[in-house]
Amino acid sequence: MMTGSHRYELSDESASQSPESLFERCHWLYALCREYFFRDHTREITSALFPSGNPANGTKLLELGCGPGLYACRFAKDFPQVTATGIDLSKRLIRRARARAANLQLQNCTFLVGDAQALSQLAHSVDAVIVSRLFLIVPDREAVLTEIFRVLRPGGRCFIAEPTSGIVSRLPLSAMWVLARMTASPWEKFREPQQVEVMRPGEFLKLVQGLPWASVDVRRDDWYQYAVCEKSEARINEQSWSAA
Ligand SMILES: C[S@@+](CC[C@H](N)C(=O)[O-])C[C@H]1O[C@@H](n2cnc3c(N)ncnc32)[C@H](O)[C@@H]1O
Repeated sequence: MMTGSHRYELSDESASQSPESLFERCHWLYALCREYFFRDHTREITSALFPSGNPANGTKLLELGCGPGLYACRFAKDFPQVTATGIDLSKRLIRRARARAANLQLQNCTFLVGDAQALSQLAHSVDAVIVSRLFLIVPDREAVLTEIFRVLRPGGRCFIAEPTSGIVSRLPLSAMWVLARMTASPWEKFREPQQVEVMRPGEFLKLVQGLPWASVDVRRDDWYQYAVCEKSEARINEQSWSAA
């Protein structure tokens, strides 16, 4: 899947990004929330991406905005025939994800620091993409979705889960803001907004339907909205489409 083993690493992992991300500063708090408070969508992801219940040998799975790497590690562990890659902008969360993979002794799971809005070095040979709770926080949603569409192979699928409750989504971010304010100097700035806006159903639909998928299945429950998008088996001329 990768054109080079570490092509997505930022050139210097020790370099600080300015302004700093709350996910960097409060990585342990987010990892704690992910582990114990957020819904686990493993079952939904499995049936959406691998309807047979058993991915084919050599399946390349990508988790974007993977945070502490819950899903990449889980799928790599449950399906040794899968090669999983997690990408996140936060170096500390990526370190946590790598530690999780190492603890589980996973040889088929890699984590890279990178921007989901610009995966320029990723070849378009990915079989399946997981995106959980990323659009909530990312500045350019269309860019992320365009990258997902580009890196998927023909016939590849992506699973998207986005929260629908503003209040519930704001709680972890507010907690991170409080913690960051307690530990940072008063003039320090952080990248994330004070509050996140969840996507309304119409916005979500418009986003996912903005690309020429072969099929898009959108669902909703009390707390989340989901999209399962499949890229056409036939190669389309992506250049002429993106220029349109
Ligand atoms: C709300 S968390 C979701 C984490 C995980 N997917 C989950 O389900 O809990 C958003 C994650 O996206 C990462 N992130 C934010 N902007 C990003 C970007 N442009 N590219 C890659 N990751 C990004 C953050 O560092 C954070 O780990």
